[in-house]
Amino acid sequence: MSTTMCAVHIALFVVLVTVTTINGDHYHPEKYTRHSEQLQRNPDAFNTAERSAEFWRNSAKEGIENRLRAVKNDKLARNVIMFLGDGMSIPTLMAARTLKGQRQNRTGEETELFFETFPTVGLSKTYCLDKQIPDSSCTATAYLAGIKNNYGTVGVDGRVQRRDCLASADKSTHLDSIAAWALDDGRDAGIVTTTRVTHASPSGTYARSANRDWESDANVTQAGFTTDVCPDIAMQLITTSPGNNFKVILGGGRREFIPNTFIDEEGTAGNRLDGRNLIDEWKTDKESRGATNQYVWNRSQLMSLRNSPPEYLLGLFESGHMQYNLMADKATEPTLAELTEVAINSLSRNEKGYFLFVEGGRIDHGHHENWARLALDETLEFDLAIEKAVEMVGDDTLIVVTADHAHVMAVNGYTKRGGDILGPSDDLGDDGIPYMTLSYTNGPGAREHVNGARVDVTKENFTVADWRTHAEVILDSETHGGDDVAVLAWGPHHHLFTGVYEQSHIPFRMAYAACIGPGLHADACSSASLLHPLSLFYAVTLSILHRVFQR
Ligand SMILES: *[C@@H]1O[C@H](CO)[C@@H](O)[C@H](O)[C@H]1NC(C)=O
Ligand SMILES: *[C@@H]1O[C@H](CO)[C@@H](O)[C@H](O)[C@H]1NC(C)=O
Ligand SMILES: *[C@@H]1O[C@H](CO)[C@@H](O)[C@H](O)[C@H]1NC(C)=O
Ligand SMILES: *[C@@H]1O[C@H](CO)[C@@H](O)[C@H](O)[C@H]1NC(C)=O
Ligand SMILES: [Zn+2]
Repeated sequence: MSTTMCAVHIALFVVLVTVTTINGDHYHPEKYTRHSEQLQRNPDAFNTAERSAEFWRNSAKEGIENRLRAVKNDKLARNVIMFLGDGMSIPTLMAARTLKGQRQNRTGEETELFFETFPTVGLSKTYCLDKQIPDSSCTATAYLAGIKNNYGTVGVDGRVQRRDCLASADKSTHLDSIAAWALDDGRDAGIVTTTRVTHASPSGTYARSANRDWESDANVTQAGFTTDVCPDIAMQLITTSPGNNFKVILGGGRREFIPNTFIDEEGTAGNRLDGRNLIDEWKTDKESRGATNQYVWNRSQLMSLRNSPPEYLLGLFESGHMQYNLMADKATEPTLAELTEVAINSLSRNEKGYFLFVEGGRIDHGHHENWARLALDETLEFDLAIEKAVEMVGDDTLIVVTADHAHVMAVNGYTKRGGDILGPSDDLGDDGIPYMTLSYTNGPGAREHVNGARVDVTKENFTVADWRTHAEVILDSETHGGDDVAVLAWGPHHHLFTGVYEQSHIPFRMAYAACIGPGLHADACSSASLLHPLSLFYAVTLSILHRVFQR
């Protein structure tokens, strides 16, 4: 190459560098504020106090004071409530809290979700035995039974591969969840979800199955197996322990319980091919125990027994999953907070305590569809359910909030403070075309290029609830993410949940706090601080009886 050519190249290079670095460095440019005028709130009108250094010093001081007040709590957890935000990745927390603040006309980023005020936070590693990026059934087995197993399997150990019915028929592979541990201790247990009650996450409390898809007998027989070898998940919930001892079961999924020849209250046929009506069987079982019971299918029925639920309550509010909050028919669909309230009213009648599992299950579905607005709104509904629970329970209740796995939604593009979290980034691609603050690396929101150019999605009506956020790789359903998820804890032994640990440690930590389960809690249970007033009462009563009988 001639020296003149070289000089031209150097000159060009200098010019290019000057252009791209004119405002900030290459990796952190200050460019383009195209959308600030029409779409962004003006932060100057907000948060004026933030401009003084004093504001941030006070904020830090308050933070330290909060930490110091969050004293170690060594009490016995009489009750444990686990709140599971399905697919509630860490970016989901940031985006949901920002949306919460923006709905209150604030800039948003500074807002806290209710559960973000909990005193302890940790990170859980979500991989499964055979997958770096897990699904909701192997993770449910980890965070409910404490054992990592294979993708797509639930309640069985790692010797069972997905769809291996025969391997799962070996009872030595079966695991007990913390719901079973609570029942074994004489406490009560229940489940609440916005998905089908037979879906992967809630099934982790009661089912043992080589395939999460075997929700009704139709799915088992279709796979070439029989339900006497591999009972379907709905059948397990109604007819076998621990599911048949749950005091409350609330969610969707009616179709898995009724025959395909039977039309339900909302006009939809069931999935079952064996002719069994498991809702009727559930009633018959509770009646044979002489226990009050009720099956409900809509919100007004639920609300009418809100304060005095029967001993056993089964609520199936949809044929499939419950509706997204933003699209729900409020006459028939209770909110997650309402479901949680009824469940706590039911379970708190047991003096010994309870384990309750509450799932915000459709955060995950919103993400799979690239419907960021719905995923975030479901996260805010989930937050309201947690707030309701904290309002209702005392300081003998451990509340753990976590997610099963992440998703591939990213928060990107140097958006201006207060920028609509569901709106465009302030940045443009190098092709000059804008993009959204939230986008996904894959999913059904991927748009084909038009004439070789990326589609400008910011010209679409992105305020529609089910508008698909932009994604890069075309996929029918967006995938989960493999990143860690947050674990937040409040109440007795909350401090156990700090650190970075295996997701499978979670149920053992909860069981330790509650003094239940397979014996990893000896120290906690023998500690004097665990003496509950009631156990003291029982101990005194027992020793009096003992003396009476010795006479
Ligand atoms: C936010 O501002 C809009 C427009 O000024 C107003 O209609 C709405 O009521 C406000 N919302 C809240 C929660 O303050
Ligand atoms: C389970 O069976 C039902 C009824 O036949 C069917 O609609 C559903 O798609 C099946 N599920 C799977 C995952 O195949
Ligand atoms: C709820 O269910 C009850 C009992 O089936 C029924 O009488 C009532 O009309 C239902 N309510 C709605 C809003 O569908
Ligand atoms: C965009 O969608 C919202 C919500 O459905 C609707 O209210 C609004 O009219 C739509 N705007 C346009 C320009 O279609
Ligand atoms: Zn999912």
